[in-house]
Amino acid sequence: MRKNLVVAIDGYSSCGKSTLAKALAKKLGFIYIDSGAMYRAVTLYFIRNHVNVNDPEAVDYALGHIELNFHSQDYQSHITLNGEEVSEEIRQMPVSTTVSEVSANKKVRREMVKQQQRMGKSKNIVMDGRDIGTTVFPDAPVKFFMTADPKIRAERRFKELQSKGDTTTSLEDVFENLAHRDYADTTRKESPLTRADDAIILDNTDLTEAEQLDFALDMVHQQLP
Ligand code: DC
Repeated sequence: MRKNLVVAIDGYSSCGKSTLAKALAKKLGFIYIDSGAMYRAVTLYFIRNHVNVNDPEAVDYALGHIELNFHSQDYQSHITLNGEEVSEEIRQMPVSTTVSEVSANKKVRREMVKQQQRMGKSKNIVMDGRDIGTTVFPDAPVKFFMTADPKIRAERRFKELQSKGDTTTSLEDVFENLAHRDYADTTRKESPLTRADDAIILDNTDLTEAEQLDFALDMVHQQLP
């Protein structure tokens, strides 16, 4: 098999992109890359170091001091920021409420896209995000665009936060954050979230994880060269 096949998965926040991407990667023997984790880790760095996202020099300087790496453990994708494991911290609300602003920044996006394209050069990967099928890998042989009812999405993310011990964030907070991120993702100037013309729409509001995986695997087998 070729060594640079990409399955691109884009879609709204919290509609199960990473669940599908991980399951597909495992079935196909591909590497899973969570591009959202990269924007979240950069955001964490900006918060910790008080980087003003509106100051181009500060952003350049910060980007030059950020090293992101992925490693897999138990089929989960982990990310390190300058050597520190931050996979848990980047899912907390402080990062979730700031990430839209940071990920809308042109310099940040340019750097992340460059790094993402490098990862797809010599490996077979499943990458999820917002602009994977449109900007990062416009020639990917298989693209999905995922969506689900916003209420269902909020409930899923709320349960996830609760299972991780977050007792301060309400369901309403999560719903509002998702609505805000959907709006920011789809209306920003730099590569907004939009469906690539050749992306397969996957609405999983009424699908189980197993059903969506079956559907996606079918599509992949039909479309991979
Ligand atoms: O997938 P996620 O919710 O963890 O992504 C976090 C944020 O990063 C999301 O609000 C939008 C942004 N993002 C992006 O702009 N482009 C990507 N390829 C991935 C994520």
